Amino acid sequence: MAAKKKQGPMDVIVALAKRRGFVMPTSEIYGGIGSSYDYGPLGIEMKRNISNLWWKEMVHKHDNIVGIDSAIIYHPKTWEASGHVDGFVDPLVDCKQCKTRFKADDLIEHVKNAKGVDEAPLNPAGDSLNADHPSYAQVPCPNCGNRGTLTPPRSFNLMFKTFMGPVEDSSNVVYLRPETAQGIYVDYPQVLNVSRVRPPFGIAQIGKAFRNEITPGNFIFRTREFEQMEMQYFIEPGKDLEAMEYWKEARMSFWRDTIGIKPENLRFHEHSSTELAHYAKSAFDIEYNFPMGWSEFEGIHNRTDFDLTRHQEYSGKDLRFFDDRTRERYIPYIVETSAGLNRGLLATLLDAYDEDEVDGQTRVVLRLDPKVAPITAAVFPLTKKDGLPEAALDIYKDLKRDFNIFYDETGNIGRRYRRQDEAGTPFCFTVDYQTLDDGTVTIRDRDTLEQAERLKPEDLAGILFNKLRS
Ligand code: GAP
Repeated sequence: MAAKKKQGPMDVIVALAKRRGFVMPTSEIYGGIGSSYDYGPLGIEMKRNISNLWWKEMVHKHDNIVGIDSAIIYHPKTWEASGHVDGFVDPLVDCKQCKTRFKADDLIEHVKNAKGVDEAPLNPAGDSLNADHPSYAQVPCPNCGNRGTLTPPRSFNLMFKTFMGPVEDSSNVVYLRPETAQGIYVDYPQVLNVSRVRPPFGIAQIGKAFRNEITPGNFIFRTREFEQMEMQYFIEPGKDLEAMEYWKEARMSFWRDTIGIKPENLRFHEHSSTELAHYAKSAFDIEYNFPMGWSEFEGIHNRTDFDLTRHQEYSGKDLRFFDDRTRERYIPYIVETSAGLNRGLLATLLDAYDEDEVDGQTRVVLRLDPKVAPITAAVFPLTKKDGLPEAALDIYKDLKRDFNIFYDETGNIGRRYRRQDEAGTPFCFTVDYQTLDDGTVTIRDRDTLEQAERLKPEDLAGILFNKLRS
């Protein structure tokens, strides 16, 4: 077997994901809609494995972190206080001729390089468009090429807006949350009342978030509906730098050591002052080396006391923490870890993709960590006769009580192994004629392809259990 390590290009992963039921376009019978995707039988198992590992790592392994699951629609004042109503905007430019819509930021390079334009119509820092500049009207539309047809940049709020109840007027406007974090901030006083936590402590939540992205794309990398795994860490003012250091390392270690992404495909990116979100004093992204380039899939943000101060102001409630040892009250600082479940899953899939040569043929294999793999083990009878299926089914039913196990008795055994390699299944147990004599089965390792060892059925659960420990 000659292994040639290869990172999966996006189109190969998209095709594999659809073919094997990891991720597929939503409502496909109607042609799908706007970069929305569904997770199929394998994808949902993998997604749940990643989110369960995150929960275990953050909530169960830390004595001072508790979880919540808040609603998706909050009181609309939440979003005024958080700054999202005014600040969560993208400036857009429309072409009045061809009706194409562009992100103003995406036009910057275009105006710098446009031919026949006297001087690039940019603001002095060179990082935003200036529509009042005389040469703005000379910029050709990047799509239809007409000049004088681009509108000035206009703010477009990325929050999905809807109405609560039957009356569609402005007093009933509500928003689908664009981040899960705010649900934690507004629940913080209640969590303090019901649990014994005190700073430093964390509140974690996993859930859907919605953003009306202007340019979704790169498969599940940027969609309008996605899942976040967020933890807000409440600390005394002044302890924020220490907490940032701790969480940066802890979060990088999660993706590298627990999920199993190759270290060379992971790095930090520190936000410059122009990249920082309105709430952040400092921020570090964890980036993956995606086929389209290094891109963020988790952020660690120093949000200071920004959010709680604003919620205190807008709600009129005292959100200070009372420290009964020092008899002092303060608004906690917050360090946030904010991971995208879908982006994390995409990075994990891309990273695990490999092709090698087996018996003169190309084999596609997902080298997923057993903790992440959708199916932990497959059980096969070598043939469909002589009592082998019955013996295999006994093993399958027993293991199924604790693990996600797949049983297959159809077709050529080589093809059955290949299908599991492509699904990322780390182990296959095969019942053969020797099983009828001494009860033992073979274990086939997805990565080494070794199959010499024979195991007793009563040992299999223990072996799998050890592989899944984190
Ligand atoms: N609470 C902070 C926050 O939401 P963010 O950097 O805007 O910070 C955090 O988002 C993570 O959420 C990102 O690193 C990414 O993984 C995920 N995310 C954000 N927008 C997304 C989108 N449109 N599609 C998929 N994932 C997205």
